[in-house]
Amino acid sequence: MLVVDYGAQYAQLIARRVRETQIYSEVVPHDTPVEEIVRRDPAALVLSGGPASVYAEDAPQVDPALFDAGVPVFGICYGFQAMTAALGGTVEHTGTREYGRTELEITGDGGTLHEDLPGHHPVWMSHGDSVSKAPEGFTVTAGSKDTPVAAYEDRRRRLAGVQYHPEVAHSPHGQEVLRRFLQDIAGIKPQWTTASIVDDTVEAIRVQVGDRRAICGLSGGVDSAVAGALVQRAIGEQLTCVFVDHGLLRAGERAQVERDFVAATGVKLVTVDAVDQFLDALAGVTDPEEKRKIIGREFIRSFEKAARDLVADADGDVDFLVQGTLYPDVVESGGGTGAANIKSHHNVGGLPDDLQFQLVEPLRALFKDEVRRVGLELGLPETIVHRQPFPGPGLGIRIIGEVTADRLTTLRAADAIAREELTAAGLDRDIWQCPVVLLADVRSVGVQGDGRTYGHPVVLRPVSSEDAMTADWTRLPYDVLERISTRITNEVAEVNRVTLDVTSKPPGTIEWE
Ligand code: XMP
Repeated sequence: MLVVDYGAQYAQLIARRVRETQIYSEVVPHDTPVEEIVRRDPAALVLSGGPASVYAEDAPQVDPALFDAGVPVFGICYGFQAMTAALGGTVEHTGTREYGRTELEITGDGGTLHEDLPGHHPVWMSHGDSVSKAPEGFTVTAGSKDTPVAAYEDRRRRLAGVQYHPEVAHSPHGQEVLRRFLQDIAGIKPQWTTASIVDDTVEAIRVQVGDRRAICGLSGGVDSAVAGALVQRAIGEQLTCVFVDHGLLRAGERAQVERDFVAATGVKLVTVDAVDQFLDALAGVTDPEEKRKIIGREFIRSFEKAARDLVADADGDVDFLVQGTLYPDVVESGGGTGAANIKSHHNVGGLPDDLQFQLVEPLRALFKDEVRRVGLELGLPETIVHRQPFPGPGLGIRIIGEVTADRLTTLRAADAIAREELTAAGLDRDIWQCPVVLLADVRSVGVQGDGRTYGHPVVLRPVSSEDAMTADWTRLPYDVLERISTRITNEVAEVNRVTLDVTSKPPGTIEWE
């Protein structure tokens, strides 16, 4: 089914909620012509919320032809009002606004959407205009203190709408209402399961690649691992994965790729050992931006060389590059293939023109949580599937000062202890990530045993976030902080002080460089 996006930040969330009912959904922009929507033959449409007033001059309108196509439609918030206006009902500036938690009052038997739900229950509202009169043929099934018409439905034409936001967690019965629309009113069968995603994607990759060959760069992260595993399942020996070890990874990460990923998938893996190359290039460099540029440049060099070697070995017969592009990237870049290509090109840093590949993007239709479920379905270990975000430049941007082999060893040891203790305390899923930063150019005096020490501080940077755009520092339990601090200062000789970063983002970024 399709979610028509009227400019709400909620459209992607609606698509995710629909998918949670095991029905496949995609987001389309509101200016998609009705003929195009009909051509795609959706099982139903959801019209999303949006910031406009239906009476505003440039307000996106709903073409009334949409309701003659015989496709079930569910309007939400702005979508509900636009649908009302298009079908001859009345939407008014009532002067009262409802924002946030509001009590919904069921009228009559509640209709299909609200039947048997509590007569009064909380929902999340966010609107200025209100529907004062439903269009012909609709039964009003709920209202609120300030909104006489907060829900209506026309079972015969399979049309319905709600003023509130059923997709947000603050509407506790919202998911059930959405499910009832999709299954009971629109009559869609829930068939989109993780197993079916794997089967369909594997089949599509086989059709696309045929008997030709593909290459996939692994970063150690979730997306490239799941993309690689899917393509491996589809074409087996025709795929080669390339993993560039730049020496800036955390303890155990190379083994995780070389041992665990290969054991789980049976993939053919080429590891490029570029540790010395990266350290040489980073020698004497302390500026964060310069470090990032050098790491990016060396990474492309290494990957490009590996790709060339592979192409040469295969007599030029490698036609495809696997990319872990996700659905939010596709939606945000306009949904077209061209736009997504630009993005994925960026992911490998831009390969030279004489190395041209067609892209295989097996995760293009999936959200992150779906990617993780597919990873588990494919038998990838939890350590890979639930790995927390880790920056491409790795520990290189967590050493404040010059990056050297010794400093990397120190930071890797401190980071491993912090990760072990957070995992042991069961906190991995509660925090977004917890960088450990080595202040390599700072020294502080300490005392250990009977002796004075003059070592380096490390900073713990635990953060909570939804999307890394904003973040708050995580209030870790004191006893966990104490264990991390004691172990790091006892076990990592060069570190004699552990500090905690209590800055939110903004103003701080998550990483220190
Ligand atoms: P900042 O430090 O900008 O980080 O608040 C936001 C999120 O992005 C990660 N990060 C990166 N990821 N390449 C990446 O793939 C990078 O160059 C990079 N820099 C930061 C960071 O770990 C956090 O999750």
